[in-house]
Amino acid sequence: MLRSHYSTDVGEEEFGKKIAIAGWVEDIRNLGGIAFILLRDRKGKAQITCIKKEIPEIFEKITSLSRESVISAEGLCQKNEKVRNGWELLPEKMEILSQAETPLPMGIADKVNVDFDTRLDNRFIDLRREKVQAIFKIRHTFIEGASEFLSSNGFLQVHTPKITVSSPEGGTEVFKINYFGRDAYLVQSPQLYKQIMMATGMDRVYEIAWYFRAEEHDTSRHLNESTAIDLEMAFIDSEEDVMKIGEKLVKSVLEKIVEENEKEMKILDVNLDIPQLPFTRVTYDEVAEMLEKKVDFKWGDDLGTDEEKIVGNEVNEQFYFITRFPLKTKPFYAMPDGDYARAFDLACKGTEISSGAQRIHDYNMLVGRMKELGMNVENFDEYLKAFRYGMPPHGGFGLGIERFLMEVLELGNIRECILFPRDKKRISP
Ligand code: 4AD
Ligand code: MG
Repeated sequence: MLRSHYSTDVGEEEFGKKIAIAGWVEDIRNLGGIAFILLRDRKGKAQITCIKKEIPEIFEKITSLSRESVISAEGLCQKNEKVRNGWELLPEKMEILSQAETPLPMGIADKVNVDFDTRLDNRFIDLRREKVQAIFKIRHTFIEGASEFLSSNGFLQVHTPKITVSSPEGGTEVFKINYFGRDAYLVQSPQLYKQIMMATGMDRVYEIAWYFRAEEHDTSRHLNESTAIDLEMAFIDSEEDVMKIGEKLVKSVLEKIVEENEKEMKILDVNLDIPQLPFTRVTYDEVAEMLEKKVDFKWGDDLGTDEEKIVGNEVNEQFYFITRFPLKTKPFYAMPDGDYARAFDLACKGTEISSGAQRIHDYNMLVGRMKELGMNVENFDEYLKAFRYGMPPHGGFGLGIERFLMEVLELGNIRECILFPRDKKRISP
């Protein structure tokens, strides 16, 4: 077989030539004297047409095939305007590489809606669907685009530990693990390590990070294992420097998606608007004023899902920052400014997709804040040590990859944007 050309992505220059294709049998139609296979691979679909009296042995094989079996076929690439991609393969050879069992746990091409749990239970099949693959192709572009943008802005990609002894994000729970008889935790975010990195002189770093959070709530926008673009930068004047990187990053990534994923956007039936810079900035105080008029909300309260949606409608922009949060709503490491923190959230269509801040870089101030919050300072020895021998002013943010995709692609459920979601009920597959 011509194993060098295993793709259904065939151009006109191949018409009339011998080609080989391989993939999954999406559909088989046997009309008695003629049989058709709709073959699917990562590039698309193609038709294989077999006339019984011309090659009875291949016709036999085709009629014995089950849907979703994997085959390869070689033969003439024949131009045919009646076929959807303008050509069909007239097979001379066909090999069944893997026969699929029947019945399938779920359909691929069926119009009937499969419920989400069945899809996730059979994720390897679900991922064969064009719509689902489109999400992950866009995810790939997003991460590649973010890496390119950050790299060209002087950020170094790093990988920090995911097993640790101290937890940064108060308020969210940690997963405890047994580390050779000692208590350890899965990290909730690379926060502490990326700050430690600021004491090394590698003063712009980013990580495609894993977050592990033992949050009890089971919602359409939370995962217990999620990923983020996390960055930290030193020698900033204020959190504004961090926000500027954040908005440019978002814009540049969206431009790349529009450029490279036209096909996928069409499959998902979404349009992307490239936002104007700078993004609107609204202060927490302004947000509080909006909310006090509409719901039971007091200055100092956290923004819940409903509050975020109301603010989203009022601000009426695709992307906007909420700035100057009350100090008490933000973690210990956020830089205080009176009763406020130099912290911000970035929202997309009324959902938080990123949080960031200027951090405290002064050792005594940091320890003071931790004590004020009743934290056990000894648990953070190794982190605090990095602040004692020269730590520049710094700040950063974490941008949830699944949150971003879910909002931008209007998917409605965050589980759509991660291969094998982990939530309160689901730990497999
Ligand atoms: O807002 P979070 O908790 O902030 C931090 O972790 C800080 N250390 C970031 C910083 O640099 N200051 O998380 C950052 C983002 C959220 O805005 C959200 O997009 C995503 O990570 N995220 C989650 N996504 C899905 N499921 C969860 N349980 C998430 N928790 C956070
Ligand atoms: Mg947050």
